[in-house]
Amino acid sequence: MKLPIIAYGDPILKKKATAIEPAEYPHVQQLIDDMFETMYGARGVGLAAPQIGLSMRLFVVDATPFDDDEPELKDFKKAFINAQMLEESGEEWAFNEGCLSIPDVREDVYRKPVIRISYYDENWHHHEETFKGMAARIIQHEYDHIEGRLFTDKLSPLRKRLIEKKLNDISKGIVDVDYKMKFPAQKKGR
Ligand code: NI
Repeated sequence: MKLPIIAYGDPILKKKATAIEPAEYPHVQQLIDDMFETMYGARGVGLAAPQIGLSMRLFVVDATPFDDDEPELKDFKKAFINAQMLEESGEEWAFNEGCLSIPDVREDVYRKPVIRISYYDENWHHHEETFKGMAARIIQHEYDHIEGRLFTDKLSPLRKRLIEKKLNDISKGIVDVDYKMKFPAQKKGR
């Protein structure tokens, strides 16, 4: 089932998400399936639970669109539960990022190229893994979501000022988008 994506401006996107327990979420697979369906419906490569209105430490990633440049990403489709970033290393590099909660805004974001992260998969198996390149980049972006951070938080004050109006418009629903969204300024009434 496709779910509406929460737009920029909603406080849930600024909130640090909480860990989930297997007992609380016996149907986590269904939720993960819905998140993938929602993400594919919006042509995204990652989606975090706060973006569908759930303040939970869960995100999904599908990096396969980047497998032309990085063949090892051929089957890179994963769910991350209760992720904890252990280490980020290397020289920061820029990539033009976007976010399904912030349609039509793309900006260069600097991040370190190598990460080490601990997480549980959809079968509640624990992993501690190292990722690099685009996989690391997408995971860092989604990990930021469960920490209550958006890529726009990482921009220079000047870049932020330049996109301020666009961000305000998005929170009011003044944006052309072809997937279902929930806009904070439209929550009541309308
Ligand atoms: Ni995002």
